[in-house]
Amino acid sequence: MAKSTRIAHPGLAAKRTDAVRAAEWIEPGMAVGMSGFTGAGYPKAVPLALAQRIEAAHARGDAFALRVLTGASTAPELDGALARAGGIDFRLPYQSDPELRARINRGEIEYMDIHLGHVAQYAWFGFLGKIDVALVEAAGILPDGRLIPSTSVGNNKTWLDLADKVIVEVNHRQPIGLDGMHDIYYGTALPPARKPIPLLHPGDRIGEPYLRVDPDKIVAVVETDAPDRLGAFAPPDAASRRIAGHLVEFFRHEIRAGRLGGSLLPLQSGVGNIANAVLAGLREGGFTGLTAYTEVIQDGMLDLIEHGVIEVASSTALSLSPEAVERFVERIDLFRQRIVLRPQEISNHAELVRRLGCIAINGMVEADLYGNVNSTHVAGSTIINGIGGSGDFARNGFLSCFVTPSTAKGGAISALVPMVSHVDHNEHDVDVVVTEQGLADLRGLSPKQRARAIIARCAHPDYRDALQDYFDRALASGGGRHTPHLLAEALSWHQRYLETGSMRA
Ligand code: COA
Repeated sequence: MAKSTRIAHPGLAAKRTDAVRAAEWIEPGMAVGMSGFTGAGYPKAVPLALAQRIEAAHARGDAFALRVLTGASTAPELDGALARAGGIDFRLPYQSDPELRARINRGEIEYMDIHLGHVAQYAWFGFLGKIDVALVEAAGILPDGRLIPSTSVGNNKTWLDLADKVIVEVNHRQPIGLDGMHDIYYGTALPPARKPIPLLHPGDRIGEPYLRVDPDKIVAVVETDAPDRLGAFAPPDAASRRIAGHLVEFFRHEIRAGRLGGSLLPLQSGVGNIANAVLAGLREGGFTGLTAYTEVIQDGMLDLIEHGVIEVASSTALSLSPEAVERFVERIDLFRQRIVLRPQEISNHAELVRRLGCIAINGMVEADLYGNVNSTHVAGSTIINGIGGSGDFARNGFLSCFVTPSTAKGGAISALVPMVSHVDHNEHDVDVVVTEQGLADLRGLSPKQRARAIIARCAHPDYRDALQDYFDRALASGGGRHTPHLLAEALSWHQRYLETGSMRA
């Protein structure tokens, strides 16, 4: 396909320019809403040109930093390049770039970690300030100026609606067969005018396939030809397979108990290798007729869709390894029937997650004896990625499961601790905790019952006695108080790790 055929609007074809010129529309101090969600659908060229523009400004002694708002994590060409250039002074929401993470943790960049389902409405409420420029990747532009979305939708609708100016990158590498896979819902409103969102099944299409944008706001169109930069997933290791096995057994138990049907309920599966392994476990477990209402489709879910285990999956992004992208492109007509890509305000919407009754399965850093979960921080202060959409699903889902190996860093860290060093999901939002050791079903349990279940079923044997000892002494010290803690000692495990590199006493 000749490159220009993807830009069917004559006025916008006339606005084609190169990345360097396009980047000149972005001035110091601006807030830029960018596309990109878990490494998919992010702009590939303008952020790199922008990073060079910023470096040149710094070399002249001029200040140049931006507020960068995205869908979720992007890639080295965006977060990495802009962070390295010193061009970000504020960033939200989820990120996972090593360079950006390092600078956040050195205090050079202000980072707001926010539920992914909240970003759009925060922007509409005016809580995030003005959005100056939207910089959005698309797969093409229609004759009327609407955009064929790319491999992620994220917050693009919101950035395109709210920004003063728009820069579009049309990426010829993104399969044009994506056309028709998206469902952009334009019925959201602000309180008190909100109405129910008419979505009753993960596969429902309630909007339109394209992103609307006022062509007059588009100041530049840049053509690119580059893949989303995503690494391969690690094959499931023994711990991940055991975690998956415990969950599959638990689902079978729930079916026998009549609390779940044979096709379960719509699955939400978080980011990371373990979540990917859990999906592989579901396939091996013989489940069929499943659905997914989730925010990211990784390789594991693509496999399930391809093999008919998942009949339909709703998401906001396709976060696929290069190998999976090939399969996706080969069978894109099949996947277009079975995948719906939506704005993240819809994929992660509390109303919908609750109505559909999602089964949320998310990775975590650590859980404490009472079921509070930390998904984001090491030793209380150092952020890893961010909460992502885990809170949207954990709070509102039918079942909220958190998974992790029982230890990290070669056994130096226990993922089960007396008190989490940071709380992302509190005890009221956590139903099930799973490690390779076992599964603790916390539903209907008091705090002390939860502690006993977590120690017995989830803790690694190397740490089990120490956790039991802590719990016994905390219990004895207060005559059976509701949530027993020894406050001076509760966080000492984390302090010990910081001082000695190990939580072991
Ligand atoms: N203490 C310190 N570090 C820990 C840890 C702990 N208790 N648990 C995990 N980590 C570290 C690992 O060592 C690893 O770092 P390394 O690569 O430097 O060794 C990193 O966190 C990732 O852990 P890993 O075991 O590979 O698991 P994962 O890929 O499943 O990621 C989370 C786990 C928690 C980091 C990841 O799930 C996440 O970011 N979650 C929050 C967002 C979310 O849940 N989104 C869901 C909706 S998409």
